[in-house]
Amino acid sequence: MKKSRVLVSGGAGYIGSHTTVELIAAGYDVVVVDNFSNSDMSAVENVRRITGADIPFEEVDCCDRTALRRVFEHYDFDSAIHFAASKAVGESIEKPLEYYGNNLSSLLNVLSLMREFGRHNIVFSSSCTVYGEPDKQPVTEQTPRKSATSPYGNTKQMCEDILRDSVAAYDGLKGIALRYFNPIGAHPSALIGELPRGVPQNLVPYITQTAAGIRECLSVFGDDYPTPDGSCIRDYIDVVDLAKAHVAAIRRMIEGKEKAPYEVFNVGTGRGVSVLELVDRFQKVNGVKLNYRIAPRRAGDIIAIWADPTLANTELGWKAERTLDETLAAAWAWEKHLREKE
Ligand code: UFG
Repeated sequence: MKKSRVLVSGGAGYIGSHTTVELIAAGYDVVVVDNFSNSDMSAVENVRRITGADIPFEEVDCCDRTALRRVFEHYDFDSAIHFAASKAVGESIEKPLEYYGNNLSSLLNVLSLMREFGRHNIVFSSSCTVYGEPDKQPVTEQTPRKSATSPYGNTKQMCEDILRDSVAAYDGLKGIALRYFNPIGAHPSALIGELPRGVPQNLVPYITQTAAGIRECLSVFGDDYPTPDGSCIRDYIDVVDLAKAHVAAIRRMIEGKEKAPYEVFNVGTGRGVSVLELVDRFQKVNGVKLNYRIAPRRAGDIIAIWADPTLANTELGWKAERTLDETLAAAWAWEKHLREKE
């Protein structure tokens, strides 16, 4: 039987590269496109090494409709996973036009080309940022979305709406938005992982770089929040588990198992972990001492958010499997691998 092919936009990025590995492992063919705005060819090469598959790759910016059209003309795929987007909250506040331009036009191009070429299934990378500061924990897919606090968050809400409306309007088009909680960790091979450029903005890359001696000291942003230990709470989801959620979502549409043409799923573990707990676990699991200090709160941080992943568990047949300890060990192994290469 001919294998289904999946277009992976942003497939050289952190989540895209892990998802490509899991798609191949699940028996799909892929075509990866990326413009290397926040990644490089080494990720694609390492995905090829991990999978042993000769993965087709096209260096294309999804905002370039003519270039993307050539990918649609050349490759026969019925499904797409659309990762390609800018993702830094702070940067989006400084460069709103770039964020709206890039994140909206890349999705619009993918969707309009899917329509033109009669391609059917799309998974969109959304974020728990759409819930803002929730009134009740854990959040379900029914928890109301709140006004976004950054242009980045706004693009996620707008893209969800664009997808919902497109699926409603165009016969045969189906879409799933996956709302990621906080993806962390790396592939167990330590060949792919997160590649932050410059000073990391996210917690786990900052922790691993501090442990590696690249950063002097981790700042824990706030210990006076109304949480048990005073630091913020998040739902940290292993990137390999997250990658598998994409495979489950694609399979659901290919097999026609969806309950509605447009569906939304939370992708998290269901467990809230504080910043201080995470720092503590990282040190224990990896046997390293981390230099950290309590610093003032970071503007715009949500106090606490974690997922109710029941819908993904029951409908997608997907569940987070890796423990926090395994994930933190993988994050450290990846950091050490990067340093060995230097
Ligand atoms: N934190 C620190 N020190 C650091 C970095 C982070 O204490 O050096 C804290 C933050 O204050 C926060 C927690 O660690 O309490 C997690 O922060 P991250 O920056 O790792 O993640 P966020 O929850 O702020 O943001 C992430 C993604 C966004 C996404 C958001 C919600 O980075 O893209 O989740 O989906 F929008």
